Amino acid sequence: MLVLMLVAAATLRLCLLARAQPLCRNHTVRTGKVFHIRQQIQGDQLYFSSMRAHLIKHPCKKNIALYLGRQIFFTTDNFRSSLLPLSIPASMKVGKPELTSAHIADSVLVLVVNQKVYIYDYEANSWNTSLGIERPVSHVSGDNCCYSRHPFCVDMSNSVFAYLYGDQISQTTVYFSNTRGYKFQKFAYERQAELVGSLGGTFYFHSLSQVGLLLIDQGKARFSYSEHPLNSSFGLPFDYNGTLGILITPGQKGILIFWFEKSLLVSRNSGQLVYPVHVREGPNTLYSSISEANLTIHSVAANEYELAVLTQENNLYYGSLGILSSSLIKFAGQNIWSQDAALMFTDVGRMEILTPVPDLMFPAFDFQKCSVNIQAILMDPQLQVDVCKAELLEGEFDNKMYTIDMNSKLELTALMIPRPGMSLIPLAMVSNPHSLGLQAIIYEDGYTYDGNTKHRLNISLKQQHHWGRADPNFTSSIKRPTGSTITLDIANKEISCVDLKPLTAFISVGCDQEKKIVIQNEISACQDNILDPVGLQDNYSYIIERDAYDPSFQGQKASEDLVVPYEYEKLGCPSLVYWDNPWKPVVELWREGKFQEVIETEFVLLEVHGLFTYTYSLTAQTARCKAQPQNWTTIMETAGDRRPFAWDRENYVSCHDPDNEVPLRWPNVPYQILGGPTANKVIFDQRNGIYVFYISIVDPYYSYCHLETTFSIYVYGAFPPSVILAAVTIIPLVVVMLLSVWLAYAIPKLLHTEKGLKFKGFWIHLCRRCRKACACFRGRC
Ligand SMILES: *[C@@H]1O[C@H](CO)[C@@H](O)[C@H](O)[C@H]1NC(C)=O
Ligand SMILES: *[C@@H]1O[C@H](CO)[C@@H](O)[C@H](O)[C@H]1NC(C)=O
Ligand SMILES: *[C@@H]1O[C@H](CO)[C@@H](O)[C@H](O)[C@H]1NC(C)=O
Ligand SMILES: *[C@@H]1O[C@H](CO)[C@@H](O)[C@H](O)[C@H]1NC(C)=O
Ligand SMILES: *[C@@H]1O[C@H](CO)[C@@H](O)[C@H](O)[C@H]1NC(C)=O
Ligand SMILES: *[C@@H]1O[C@H](CO)[C@@H](O)[C@H](O)[C@H]1NC(C)=O
Ligand SMILES: *[C@@H]1O[C@H](CO)[C@@H](O)[C@H](O)[C@H]1NC(C)=O
Ligand SMILES: *[C@@H]1O[C@H](CO)[C@@H](O)[C@H](O)[C@H]1NC(C)=O
Ligand SMILES: *[C@@H]1O[C@H](CO)[C@@H](O)[C@H](O)[C@H]1NC(C)=O
Repeated sequence: MLVLMLVAAATLRLCLLARAQPLCRNHTVRTGKVFHIRQQIQGDQLYFSSMRAHLIKHPCKKNIALYLGRQIFFTTDNFRSSLLPLSIPASMKVGKPELTSAHIADSVLVLVVNQKVYIYDYEANSWNTSLGIERPVSHVSGDNCCYSRHPFCVDMSNSVFAYLYGDQISQTTVYFSNTRGYKFQKFAYERQAELVGSLGGTFYFHSLSQVGLLLIDQGKARFSYSEHPLNSSFGLPFDYNGTLGILITPGQKGILIFWFEKSLLVSRNSGQLVYPVHVREGPNTLYSSISEANLTIHSVAANEYELAVLTQENNLYYGSLGILSSSLIKFAGQNIWSQDAALMFTDVGRMEILTPVPDLMFPAFDFQKCSVNIQAILMDPQLQVDVCKAELLEGEFDNKMYTIDMNSKLELTALMIPRPGMSLIPLAMVSNPHSLGLQAIIYEDGYTYDGNTKHRLNISLKQQHHWGRADPNFTSSIKRPTGSTITLDIANKEISCVDLKPLTAFISVGCDQEKKIVIQNEISACQDNILDPVGLQDNYSYIIERDAYDPSFQGQKASEDLVVPYEYEKLGCPSLVYWDNPWKPVVELWREGKFQEVIETEFVLLEVHGLFTYTYSLTAQTARCKAQPQNWTTIMETAGDRRPFAWDRENYVSCHDPDNEVPLRWPNVPYQILGGPTANKVIFDQRNGIYVFYISIVDPYYSYCHLETTFSIYVYGAFPPSVILAAVTIIPLVVVMLLSVWLAYAIPKLLHTEKGLKFKGFWIHLCRRCRKACACFRGRC
């Protein structure tokens, strides 16, 4: 009954205005107010330090928002119900709870209250004090990635900075959290001690894969960036009047909005260039900035595509965040301003002016909302806005996330339809050219269909291939995965193209998780009945003699024999390798279960049980090393807790690299790197048995992935035969060997005769079953 009454009590009043062209339509949200039910505010009621109200919307979850003003309201239904002001539990003992900054990180609110950071998990309805911050902080900053649940995207949403605004930058402590604010640690910024000025903010610019520190000095501000190649340069300085609030617009496009009562600036490249927003009042008046237009900003809102400003003069200004536009247009005034009013976008082209209304009878506030339909207002002939030249811009890639690994490319397609007789200029912008090393190239072709000219756009993106040839100014560290967005927009579009959103995709320049390496196993020991597959699967184990292995990989003989259970599930049947053949595995790249190519680049091998009964055909000298090559011993010494299998693309340094300055002091040590420019091979000792190898692709330029796997081989043919195998399996082998020795002698002679050709045909047939032997036969082994 009570529940029914509660639901029935939800009312929605709609007061239509009597004006011809109202700016917005007023209605009040009032729900759940039943006389004998009184909710109580528990804990200490929070309030926002600023005079102006502000609204933070969750970029990924449309109905989640936080209103900051004289009271704080947190909604999970986009203010469609009356709300109690947000309060912090008394047990947190914050005192007079002044909130200076807030951020929504995925499913938690990160709040700075009285210079400490608190976390409110709204899904679990639990409060926590965050750990690791030792000094006072005033602000938090972060971003949310809505493109996918890819780890790269999830990490973005989990990253939060906390800092003290206005502190001397050279000695301040900035804190970083990758746990949505639960736990912070000091953020080490390399050149911090050299920087001059006070701190205006710390931000993670994911669209540029850089951390930016805003430095304020003598009325000017500029960004300093953390990562190569921008670490040595600053953004261009800009006027810094008042205390600028900084909005990072959703979608990781690198668009920043800086605002204060008397200024409004925007940047499209994560602060490298910042310029004032122009203001258009009527068709003939254009001001170059907010201060020139003599406006006093009260509230600012932005979504991925649009910007809106509410001024104390009771006016609403609107602008598009399209690639080339940067001006606001004034909408006719109306009585919309009050101290508690805040702006928010509810959808593209739709916004609301939200004002909390206290209720004398109930502690819960109601909300007065005034809804604005931008498209309808722009149609007003008084505004003299040109009609949109475009009818359609669409592409499958919008709002998706893609991965580009090294040596891969990405092709995106879009469709653009102009109004009949109009022409459009498509424009694609990459937010982080350093990461891709390339601008997007648009290929356009037009065709006529149903009397309309349509334009197909193909956008091609690929990572510039390095191999040392890339311009170092144009590529960030190749060892570090980075991110970028690509945005396709129409350069010459009017402000009236409200519904024609630019198309954006996020590109992670990093490991393509679908890539795997597979070792070619053409002649397996099971096929030739040397090992019995049934036996191998039946909890098979084998013995490694104590003088053939070292469990600590130092090449010292062990004290006892090792019984190794064979992991058939993981390794399958070992491939067959004749002991006296210099050998190198054939490594294949597979993606999404499909073969891509044979990997020719540098890799390393290590027998996982510490077998050391093999070496390499080349030495540092014969491999023509300029520097002392790395080897497993030197890698393990420096690997710390990642031992022993720690050799990978991150720590590999080629001995052929001209920048490698380690002197070549031991030219005769074995060269342990296979593949790449050398013909290095593995040479086995005279010992039969199973070897299980760990293989790691170490070339840093091949892929961002750590391509590694384990595989097994069976080395055969050495005398005396290994004790672990029955002689029965060896004898046929010897026969095969002797036969092949005879063939290797007899066949080259035979081939020159007619009879020999028939003979060759026979062998080609046989080759299909036994390619390796055939390679020997052709004299390639
Ligand atoms: C948050 O605090 C609660 C107790 O108040 C505790 O049980 C929980 O582990 C804390 N969560 C984190 C992530 O620290
Ligand atoms: C920028 O980073 C690169 C590569 O990490 C480094 O070599 C260079 O010294 C750094 N520059 C500055 C000014 O710190
Ligand atoms: C900052 O203030 C100065 C002087 O008060 C003014 O000339 C300048 O235009 C202002 N800058 C911005 C971006 O508002
Ligand atoms: C700016 O506006 C204020 C009041 O809104 C007015 O007093 C002042 O004269 C204006 N200044 C200019 C330069 O228009
Ligand atoms: C909306 O309602 C409020 C109070 O009822 C009023 O002050 C304001 O002028 C109205 N706004 C519009 C646009 O009609
Ligand atoms: C765009 O790609 C499609 C399919 O790959 C192709 O048929 C078309 O010719 C391409 N158009 C241009 C202009 O490159
Ligand atoms: C990199 O940039 C610097 C300064 O912008 C320039 O002097 C240098 O020539 C550039 N290097 C290359 C390889 O283009
Ligand atoms: C292999 O060993 C496991 C436990 O060590 C046992 O459960 C399983 O039955 C054995 N399999 C065969 C085929 O003997
Ligand atoms: C590894 O390299 C070091 C020199 O860097 C050399 O002293 C050592 O003998 C090498 N170890 C092996 C097993 O080749």
